[in-house]
Amino acid sequence: MSAPNKSFDPVEVAALSAESLDAARADALAAIEAAADLDALKQVRLAHAGDRSPLALANREIGALPPAARAEAGKRIGAARGAVAQALKARQAELEEERDRRVLAEEAVDVTLPWDRAPRGGRHPLTTLQERMVDVFVSMGFEVAEGPEVEAEWFNFDALNFPPDHPARSMQDTFFVESEETGLVLRTHTSPMQIRSLLSRELPVYVVGPGRTFRTDELDATHSPVFHQLEGLAVDEGLTMADLRGGIDAFVAGMFGPGLVTRMRPSFFPFTEPSAEVDMQCFVCRGASAEPGGAPCRTCSSEGWIELGGCGMVNPRVLVACGIDPDRYSGWAFGLGVERTLMFRHGVEDMHDMVEGDVRFTLPFGMEI
Ligand code: FA5
Repeated sequence: MSAPNKSFDPVEVAALSAESLDAARADALAAIEAAADLDALKQVRLAHAGDRSPLALANREIGALPPAARAEAGKRIGAARGAVAQALKARQAELEEERDRRVLAEEAVDVTLPWDRAPRGGRHPLTTLQERMVDVFVSMGFEVAEGPEVEAEWFNFDALNFPPDHPARSMQDTFFVESEETGLVLRTHTSPMQIRSLLSRELPVYVVGPGRTFRTDELDATHSPVFHQLEGLAVDEGLTMADLRGGIDAFVAGMFGPGLVTRMRPSFFPFTEPSAEVDMQCFVCRGASAEPGGAPCRTCSSEGWIELGGCGMVNPRVLVACGIDPDRYSGWAFGLGVERTLMFRHGVEDMHDMVEGDVRFTLPFGMEI
């Protein structure tokens, strides 16, 4: 800073001349206007309004003026600095608004976009129903048995007392692996698990075996070439048909609620003697639709009864094939169709829905049945 000089004319101090001040102010305003973003404006602020800016340096020169000249010079500089400060403020506001608008646009979140990107699957109702059916027997003390889907013919037929010329053994009913000579079939029912359980477990045996089964049936509304059965087997001393009936009744109560009557119709299976088809009273109309004047029922086709599956007392020949003394032990067994159970229990009218794998069929059943 120069020393005060009484003979000094302020207009002659270069930094304080009107031209210099106007030029400094014009430079500042042009730079402010040209600042493209807030960072650039910060630099402009330093350069044109900071301590080392031309206007700040000019301000320091005021002290070198004679006192009489200081007021006017101060006014001029003040006006220039005021104009620069105002322009900075205005540009700052402009750039902040621009930035906010851009951030809002760039970082906008479309809350209407679907959030559930990975589609949820659903457990298949056949799986959950099968688990539930098994649970009813497990709660009665039964163990769960498993067996292979590709099965030896001996387990699938011979040990179960199917004679060699039984029609079920023909290519029309059974999927043979490679050729009939291999002795391997895709199991046509879950009953081979009876043999496997009797050969591998200590007596008494109480097992339930769910599984996939295969037959050369065409896929239609009520048949599938691949379907599921639930096998049940009890072998102990002193078992009678009353125990079989009691087991079936307990199953029906566990699945459909108490108070439903069951009935048995004579039937034939090579591995049970006597054999029966077991029906339960319709759990929807409770038989009323079959009474004269009863309202029609879709669940049982107004028959009042629903077919559950096959059952019977284990044929002594089967016990002998498994090395069990039929004079000491007796047993009962049953085989239920899981698809058919799903059909009548949940009003599924067409088996195609169960095999097509469309999640729109599966999801409404939920994770549990
Ligand atoms: C049997 O398979 C015997 N093993 C059942 C059995 C076990 C009897 C133990 C006695 C003692 P059946 O062929 O009837 O029986 O079949 C049993 C059930 O499987 C049928 O009631 C039906 O619900 C179901 N089923 C049979 N074929 C098909 C198919 N193609 N599609 C869907 N379900 C089927």
